Amino acid sequence: MKSVGIIGASGFTGHELLKLLNAHELVDLKVMNSRNYAGKKVSSLYNDFEGDDVYTGYSFDEVNAFNLDLIFLALPHAKSMDTIKELDTTKTKLIDLSADYRFKDPEVYEKIYGRASLATEHTWVYGLPELFKTEIQNAKAVANPGCYAAASILAAYPIQDEAAHIVFDCKSGWSGAGRDSDYAKNPGLLKDNLIAYKLTKHRHKYEIEQFVKTPISFTPHVFDTFEGMMCTAHVLLKNGANSDEIMKRYQDFYKDSAFTRVSQAIPDVSQTQKTNYCDIGGFEIDENNQLVIVSTLDNLWKGAAGQAVQNMNLMLGLPETEGLI
Ligand SMILES: NC(=O)c1ccc[n+]([C@@H]2O[C@H](COP(=O)([O-])OP(=O)(O)OC[C@H]3O[C@@H](n4cnc5c(N)ncnc54)[C@H](OP(=O)(O)O)[C@@H]3O)[C@@H](O)[C@H]2O)c1
Repeated sequence: MKSVGIIGASGFTGHELLKLLNAHELVDLKVMNSRNYAGKKVSSLYNDFEGDDVYTGYSFDEVNAFNLDLIFLALPHAKSMDTIKELDTTKTKLIDLSADYRFKDPEVYEKIYGRASLATEHTWVYGLPELFKTEIQNAKAVANPGCYAAASILAAYPIQDEAAHIVFDCKSGWSGAGRDSDYAKNPGLLKDNLIAYKLTKHRHKYEIEQFVKTPISFTPHVFDTFEGMMCTAHVLLKNGANSDEIMKRYQDFYKDSAFTRVSQAIPDVSQTQKTNYCDIGGFEIDENNQLVIVSTLDNLWKGAAGQAVQNMNLMLGLPETEGLI
C-alpha cells in the first residue's frame, strides 16, 4: 500500500482527486489538507460525497513527518511553488496540477503567469503519458497538463508535421474555472448559454505550443455544463491527404495508450464525462484542404485529477489504469 496526500483538497480538482484516491485500492490517502475547511466534513462542502471523511489541516512539518510516497498539489498557480518549497521531497514524489512547472523554458512561464518559477531540486516531467510515459515512470516530479492543453495536444500531435496552421476551437464546462469563479458562485450566469473568452491569448495556447510545433490559434469557450470539454481542431493541411490514412495514423500512434481512443465517429462531451478517456474522431477533409478533428475529455478527469491518478500509478509502479474508468 502506498501513502499519498492532497494539498488543496477542497477545490474542484482536489475533490475529484479525493474521491478517486479514496476508492483506489492500492493507496492510503493520509492527508487531505484544506486551509479553510480543516476539521469539517467533506460532505458539508460537496453533497455528492458519501462518508464521514474530514478535511485535514496539517502543518508542513506534520505533512513531512508522514514520509508520504507522493503528494498532489491541487492549488492555484504560484501557490503551488510556494508550497513545494516547504515540503521535504527527499523520498516523496510530487504531482502538481497547476501550471507552475509545465513550461520547459522558465522565461515563457514568467511572461505568461507574471512570476518566475522557483527552482526545485527535481527535473519536472510534463505529465501526458501518451507522449512521455517512460519519463513519467521514472520521474520524481510531474507537472500535470492543463485541461484545454491536454485535449488540444492529443487532437493535433500526430498530424502537426502536415499542418500549415491549426485553429483550436475549445469549449469547457464551468468547473474549469475552479471553486472561486463567478460561475461557481452563480451558475445561473451560464444558463442555456455559451460564452467565448480570451479570444487569442489564453495561457494554454503557450502550453500547447511547446508540443505542437506549427502555427496555432486557440479560442476557449465556457458552456452550460459542470464538467466536460470539447476541442475542435481545424487543421489547414499543407498538401492533399486521405482522411482514412490520417485516422489510421492516429490509431497507430495511440494504440498503446490506456485512455486515448480513436474512431471515425465524432465524439460528444457526454461520452467522456466522469471518465479518464480522451476520445478523438471526425477526420473529415473539406474542399479547402481543411481537416477537422474533434477531441473530448472531462476537464476534471483526463484534464486534471484522473490524469494525475494515471501519472501517480505510473510513478509508483502501480497498474496504469488502477482506480480509473
Ligand atoms: N478546474 C479544472 O478543470 C482544472 C483542470 C486542470 C488543471 N487545473 C489546475 O488545478 C489547480 C487547482 O484547480 P481547481 O479548479 O481545483 O481550483 P479551486 O477549485 O479554486 O481550488 C483550489 C484550492 O486551493 C486552495 N487554495 C487557494 N488559495 C490558496 C493559497 N493561497 N494557499 C493554499 N491553498 C490555497 C483552496 O482550498 P482551501 O482554501 O480550502 O485551502 C482551494 O479550494 C489550478 O492550478 C488549476 O489551474 C484545474
